[in-house]
Amino acid sequence: MRTITVVTISALLAVGSCGGGNHDFRRPSPRDARSPCPMLNSLANHGYLPRNGKNVSIDQIVNGIDEALNISPLSTRPVAEFAATTSTTGNPTTLDLDDLNQHGVIEHDGSLSRSDFALGDNHSFNPKIYNTVAKFFTKDVISIKTAAQARRARLIAAATQNPSYNFTAREDQFSQFETALYLAVYGKGTEGNAKTKWVNIMFREERIPYKEGYKRPTNVILNEHIVELAEKVAAAA
Ligand code: HEM
Repeated sequence: MRTITVVTISALLAVGSCGGGNHDFRRPSPRDARSPCPMLNSLANHGYLPRNGKNVSIDQIVNGIDEALNISPLSTRPVAEFAATTSTTGNPTTLDLDDLNQHGVIEHDGSLSRSDFALGDNHSFNPKIYNTVAKFFTKDVISIKTAAQARRARLIAAATQNPSYNFTAREDQFSQFETALYLAVYGKGTEGNAKTKWVNIMFREERIPYKEGYKRPTNVILNEHIVELAEKVAAAA
């Protein structure tokens, strides 16, 4: 009896610490919809969002991010609602993840890991492009300064390579927030220092790095933390 109890408790702990249970990692099939966002894709690959990436509701996005990453719903709901303006599902409160490929809504030029719209595939992970960013990540952690330098270099390269390059002030802000998000989720509070390994796993594998030690933080990530990081990223460039 004692053995069974011990085994059950260890099994539960294992599930909690490595995204097990319903949240094991599964690669998407070619029929599944995925987006230009490495984190929404990671969440779908772990079943925090529907694994087929279809008819994903605003609530599922908000709750999935909360459940997996502990980001405040007050921060993510407005973005999820805005994202739903791309919906092609016939229901304005749901979207397919590939609806987010629409250029000029949230998707923009100068992405860290995707090609520009005018140059072809604006939504699939592009290792060649990401390598030009990841080469800045030479230490175990990514400081705000390093993240800002990597972003800046990618923007300059995109502007040089794409004759139709378009990057408005609003898109600059989106891009700052995306860098702030990976620093907030995989770093420490508002100081940056995101674990390089975890960030690479998000981009390259679209997986939450449970096996490498990631745990949902106990402290909620608030909108003000992400805003502070985005401002620091903008200032550091
Ligand atoms: C409401 C929730 C979210 C929506 C609707 C959303 C949507 C998007 C979209 C459409 C893009 C593509 C922008 C581009 O053209 O580069 C993007 C990029 C990105 N998102 Fe999300 N996202 C959400 C939440 C998150 C969260 C929680 C993270 C946490 C790490 C995150 C991290 C990123 C990163 C790092 C990029 C940049 C990818 C690149 O530049 O290659 N996102 N997101």
